Amino acid sequence: MNFDFTEEQIMIRQAARDYAERELIKDVLERDAKAEIPWKHIKNLTELGFFGMMVDPNFGGGGMDTMSYVLAIEEISKVDAAMSVIMSIHNSLACYGIERFGSDELKKKYLHTLAAGEKIGAFLLSEPEAGSDATSQRTMAEDKGDHYLLNGTKNWISSAKSGSIYIVIAQTHPELKHKGINAFVVERETPGISLAPHEDKMGMRSSDTHSVMFTDVIVPKENRLGEDGFGFKLAMQLLEAGRIGIAAQAVGIAAGALERSVLYAKERKAFGKLIIEHQAIAFKLAEMAVKVEAARNLVLKAAWLKDNGKSFRLASAMAKLYAADIAMEVTTEAVQIHGGYGYVKEYHVERFMREAKLTQIYEGTSEIQKMVISRELIRE
Ligand code: CAA
Repeated sequence: MNFDFTEEQIMIRQAARDYAERELIKDVLERDAKAEIPWKHIKNLTELGFFGMMVDPNFGGGGMDTMSYVLAIEEISKVDAAMSVIMSIHNSLACYGIERFGSDELKKKYLHTLAAGEKIGAFLLSEPEAGSDATSQRTMAEDKGDHYLLNGTKNWISSAKSGSIYIVIAQTHPELKHKGINAFVVERETPGISLAPHEDKMGMRSSDTHSVMFTDVIVPKENRLGEDGFGFKLAMQLLEAGRIGIAAQAVGIAAGALERSVLYAKERKAFGKLIIEHQAIAFKLAEMAVKVEAARNLVLKAAWLKDNGKSFRLASAMAKLYAADIAMEVTTEAVQIHGGYGYVKEYHVERFMREAKLTQIYEGTSEIQKMVISRELIRE
């Protein structure tokens, strides 16, 4: 395994860092307070090539590797993880899903627009009764010969409003259980699709989350991704890849909290000296730094495995589990180090703590990652 970054990877990381530190930081607190979709930043990051960054250049993408992608996600998340939710779902679920499983026609039809960032992608799997238990899909995709008819409700959908190209998972043959599930590319503007009001979330507030309702929505037959009945395995494989991005996001949140804590501890005095000179604080920072580095290495390993065509199911679940858990620990310590200042918005660390919590919940809870890991151990 080689984690020596290429010049290109270093440039991509620097470009993401520059944008985050120069632009995202300016209005991140306001966007968090107002739960506003970061349209301006989506457009700018698109122009910089961060939407569709891993898509084949033949389809208008950046042709970059997963390593570059996780470096970019970490930098964006150090400042504004909500922005990286939109970026991550677009790149590693929507673009990756269509590129990997779509027919040539579907790739031609949707990948160029997604890779150019003209339209944003979303992934619709979760339902009121099918969050962790993803096989229990109730949304129906009835086979009507030349089209499917979609009916049902999806919950907790990130980028439901900012996104307009959906990958929707639905049941076609209930008697076959998970083997009857299909995946479809669905345009949000199709008649019969409606959105519930946005979820007023604890963190990641400027990433838009809604329930999405489907009523007699006609989906052309050719918009199915993969063979009939392949939808569940497809969803699992997408999540396997998507979790690398969420793990990178968690590393970014933790690294951002660590950076701010070190700066604060070098400025703040208590009992006649800088607080970083108190062992109680210095040891906390040391432990936080080790956790961030260990999580980052798990993420890089998962990205490396994916880039080198090797199985990454175990590695991505491990990275997601560990990075999300340490993000919660590190951000909680960051608030503690900041004392009262840590509890107010201006110092950002309370926001990091709110953001970290979601990384333990979405794209599979920490408990789901443990299920995936333990099953792989048993299988081995
Ligand atoms: N790749 C390929 N196939 C896979 C697979 C994978 N990663 N994981 C499972 N499968 C296959 C199994 O081999 C099995 O195939 P066979 O029937 O042919 O043997 C089939 O799928 C069923 O697998 P399991 O028996 O393991 O299924 P399970 O019901 O026990 O569940 C699970 C497995 C890991 C718990 C899975 O349901 C899961 O990951 N759940 C969490 C889903 C999740 O992450 N939800 C939230 C995502 S959406 C989101 O966060 C919102 C957003 O906006 C992004």
